[in-house]
Amino acid sequence: MVDSPFAEISINVEDILHCSYSHWYPKFEKYTLSEAVIYKSLPKSFVEYLESDDIELPKENKKDSVIFQDAKPTSDNEYSDWEDDRNEEIISADKFTKSDPTKNFKELHEQLKETINRFGSVAPKLNWSAPQDSTWIMTGRNMRCYSTTDLFLLLKSSDYLNHDIYHAFDEAKDYDKNNPPIFDLNLILRKWVDINPSMEFRCFVRDRQLIAISQRDLNYYSFLDELKDELTEKIGIFFDDVLMGNFDCNSFVFDVYLPKPFNEVYLIDINPYQRSTESLLFTWNELITMDLMEEYVEFRLVTQHNSGRFATKAHSQNHVPRDFLDASVDTQSMVDFLKKCKELELNERDTSDSGSDDDGDIK
Ligand SMILES: Nc1ncnc2c1ncn2[C@@H]1O[C@H](COP(=O)(O)OP(=O)(O)OP(=O)(O)O)[C@@H](O)[C@H]1O
Ligand SMILES: [Mg+2]
Repeated sequence: MVDSPFAEISINVEDILHCSYSHWYPKFEKYTLSEAVIYKSLPKSFVEYLESDDIELPKENKKDSVIFQDAKPTSDNEYSDWEDDRNEEIISADKFTKSDPTKNFKELHEQLKETINRFGSVAPKLNWSAPQDSTWIMTGRNMRCYSTTDLFLLLKSSDYLNHDIYHAFDEAKDYDKNNPPIFDLNLILRKWVDINPSMEFRCFVRDRQLIAISQRDLNYYSFLDELKDELTEKIGIFFDDVLMGNFDCNSFVFDVYLPKPFNEVYLIDINPYQRSTESLLFTWNELITMDLMEEYVEFRLVTQHNSGRFATKAHSQNHVPRDFLDASVDTQSMVDFLKKCKELELNERDTSDSGSDDDGDIK
């Protein structure tokens, strides 16, 4: 195996479009975990709302959403800096509801409400990406949305949506910045199903051959090792019978879920065969240069011995400011980051020295 850092992947715009949920879902609907409703041609006003920096949320469904649970100081959340403001300042939900943000896309809003009511709760996604980076803001720390308030909060807090809106084709060989492909942004609402993350697997297909399978949730699950052969066989049959002859790309990455007793394989997603798709327990160079041996599929699991290496929480890199993240990997960024901190500190000192009407809010 040659592990060259320069091994190239050849993907084109069309391959990426084929991996869009709305493209493959109609074909493979009966193999997916749950029913989904796809909103194509989203109104421009809705896309603008998603992109805007402020977090204005619909007034209804207040009680269902974490942000609308008014925070009143109690003995549990007591913090000394609050003391002075205790009687005046109650962090109020009304701060977030100055006007109704849905007034410009009323019809879509009604449709979304209707779907969420019908499904009970939903796992949302755009064409390629789900807002997995913003789950920290939800009460259940997952993507489960019970209302449009939850849905908009989750979507608006996510950086991953930027990828779908602006960077979906960055890795395509035939992508022309001056003549970008025209595509419709979609919103997909999947009926929520509780998933056991240990039974999700990512499967890599190169030149129409299934070459590798990786555990998707990178925690150590002791029971998986003895299931390896059975899982490889089930996933192999699913690939041969369902995907190989029916999916439009030669190389792609698909995600499956196999709940006990492992007699059903559910398709969760199909991803482009490109570096921005997480390669999990493989490296992309390995995947690109791996020998295509007849019928051999390499199945990797987190083992007791390497579990420490993967023990970070998935998507946690998106739960901190970008500057902080950059600073942790490069010295110059660290210097810039510290400079910024110093500037902020000086600014803050200036403002408090000049006796400003600081209300104690964290900005
Ligand atoms: N119907 C559902 N109900 C509950 N959870 C779901 C549902 N569908 C998917 N999930 C969960 O959401 C996770 C992310 O979904 P999905 O794979 O579609 O996102 P993604 O953005 O494409 O992820 P990646 O960037 O890793 O490709 C899945 O791993 C699965 O655990
Ligand atoms: Mg995906």
